[in-house]
Amino acid sequence: MSNQTWVFPKSMREYLHTFGVRESPAAAALRSRTAELGRISAMQICPEQGALMALLAHSIQAQRALEIGTFTGYSALVVAEALPPDGQLLTCDVSEDWTAIAKAHWQKAGVADRIELRLGPAVDTLHELVHSGQGRSFDFAFIDADKENYEKYYESAYRLVRPSGLICIDNVFWGGSVADQSQSDASVEAIRRVTRQVHSDERVDAVIVPVGDGLMIARKRH
Ligand SMILES: C[S@@+](CC[C@H](N)C(=O)[O-])C[C@H]1O[C@@H](n2cnc3c(N)ncnc32)[C@H](O)[C@@H]1O
Repeated sequence: MSNQTWVFPKSMREYLHTFGVRESPAAAALRSRTAELGRISAMQICPEQGALMALLAHSIQAQRALEIGTFTGYSALVVAEALPPDGQLLTCDVSEDWTAIAKAHWQKAGVADRIELRLGPAVDTLHELVHSGQGRSFDFAFIDADKENYEKYYESAYRLVRPSGLICIDNVFWGGSVADQSQSDASVEAIRRVTRQVHSDERVDAVIVPVGDGLMIARKRH
């Protein structure tokens, strides 16, 4: 988890935030509110990652987006801002408390009518979406929840996203632990597995972008 691009010193991050991002006042207000939660606020994506994902969603003219891991709603807000007024973002989480903050800020940002929150284990929500005939109906997906389920989330997202749609996978650096062979906890192993899985998946084009805590972007070929 990281609410900042960890490879940069503070001065460069400030420069990046000033000239690399056009953050809406509503998104900035949600970042300030989330910062009040203390250390846990590091779960939020950084503004430059949000700007990148919004630009990607906009570039592919996304109408329908899927998110796994809402937290206080920052990534959902910035992607929803990039959707057309009749666009829809479906986001999954298990926490009523954190998503209550999200809902209040989506309302203030004027994007609440574009966002549907599904509370419950995301594995179940995605299973239900796949088996209710919603395959290939999403343009954009963002995976940012419990790492142990990332492989399942990726496979479900692959089924739910249309050809030429994008799947973004967060935290593929895990603070650099992925390249440190002395690290072997469940999260780092899960991230290594999904990274190998996507890298060798001939059904997608894929790249890792060193933004935030590492963002892997896969484009579904067919
Ligand atoms: C890293 S945070 C998401 C950050 C968010 N994308 C943002 O930028 O603000 C991960 C979220 O995943 C949620 N989560 C953890 N396990 C989950 C599960 N099994 N199903 C759905 N959500 C889960 C947590 O409650 C938490 O809010």
